[in-house]
Amino acid sequence: MFEVPLFDVRIGEEEVEAVADAYRSGWLSSGPATEELESRFAAYTGAPHAVAVSSGTAALHLAMLVAGVAEGDRVAMPSMSFVATANAATYAGARPRFAEIAGVTRPWLSTEAAAEALDLGCSALATVSYGGRMGETAALADLAAARGVPLIEDAAHAGGSRLGDVHAGTFGTVGAFSFFANKNLGIGEGGMVVTADAALADRARSLRTHGMTTTSWERHRQRVSAYEIGELGFNYRIDEPRARLATMRLQKLDEENQARARIASEYASALQDLEGIELLEPPAADERQSHHLFVVVLAAGANRDGFRRALAERGVETGVHYRAIHDFELYEDSELELPVTEDYAVRTVSLPLFPHMEQWQCELVIEAVHGAAGTG
Ligand SMILES: Cc1ncc(COP(=O)(O)O)c(C=O)c1O
Repeated sequence: MFEVPLFDVRIGEEEVEAVADAYRSGWLSSGPATEELESRFAAYTGAPHAVAVSSGTAALHLAMLVAGVAEGDRVAMPSMSFVATANAATYAGARPRFAEIAGVTRPWLSTEAAAEALDLGCSALATVSYGGRMGETAALADLAAARGVPLIEDAAHAGGSRLGDVHAGTFGTVGAFSFFANKNLGIGEGGMVVTADAALADRARSLRTHGMTTTSWERHRQRVSAYEIGELGFNYRIDEPRARLATMRLQKLDEENQARARIASEYASALQDLEGIELLEPPAADERQSHHLFVVVLAAGANRDGFRRALAERGVETGVHYRAIHDFELYEDSELELPVTEDYAVRTVSLPLFPHMEQWQCELVIEAVHGAAGTG
């Protein structure tokens, strides 16, 4: 066991009680608690419509489908993401076209590279708020609008991230959030689709439950008595206990993100001048970020395994977010050259970050990084 784990989840007794209440209610699959979560999440993000689903990956898959991504399409996206971003396009019958990140201290999709990918025949654009950073999202939304292609936002890391008053996931055609255990709004498994378009939201609702035109909760409440199946759908429903937990955790999200911000700020001031380490470019003045990840970028040619081992020996767990997607066998492409992404992928290290991290843990991480920076 590490003295400082990479992520840590703490569920309060009141949250456990809310989940128990959901079990006591006797209605377990999507129902009133799911509807409540959707309306609260929509209010929180400012998205007119929110559709709760079983995972972030399910949210991304539905996002691709309702945005119109179809068989044979190419979707421009960063390779610096979790593989689910690419898989979602693949599930829809499309193929990702990976585009370069903005820089080694700006590991989010470059608008210029995205424009080039669109020139090469992509019919949709997907972006990722990497680590909770908004990156070039606003410019990418402008690009997508100018080219008349849908923008799908993978906002899995970005619960609470905003640019001005606009929440991550609401810049494009459709956004997808993850409630996976290690996410800022972590509940185990779960996700959310958000969109301003009522027709797209309706389609996502139907696709999440086998393509049915009504839900069993609606039939139970006798709002309707039958259903039609118009197209092939999935079982991507969330259940009531997890919806209750998500609703409870949503109420704490801003406070927890502020706690993350305080730790990130301590890390930044203690590490910004350290030789052998670079930090990501600071956010724009109007960017509020979720601080899902705190990454450091080691010097070119540094021994990352050695650096991580040195931290582990001091009790500090680290992570790598991410191996580039095009480096995996499934997405290998010998023609593709993404030197900045590849450079970042071998130099990045994620430090522990979670809201209830204690001061001694934060200091231990800083001390360990100082000790290891020379060895890396
Ligand atoms: C960037 C990104 N996209 C998508 C996902 C998929 O979310 P989930 O695990 O909830 O399916 C994750 C995390 O797991 C992620 O980090």
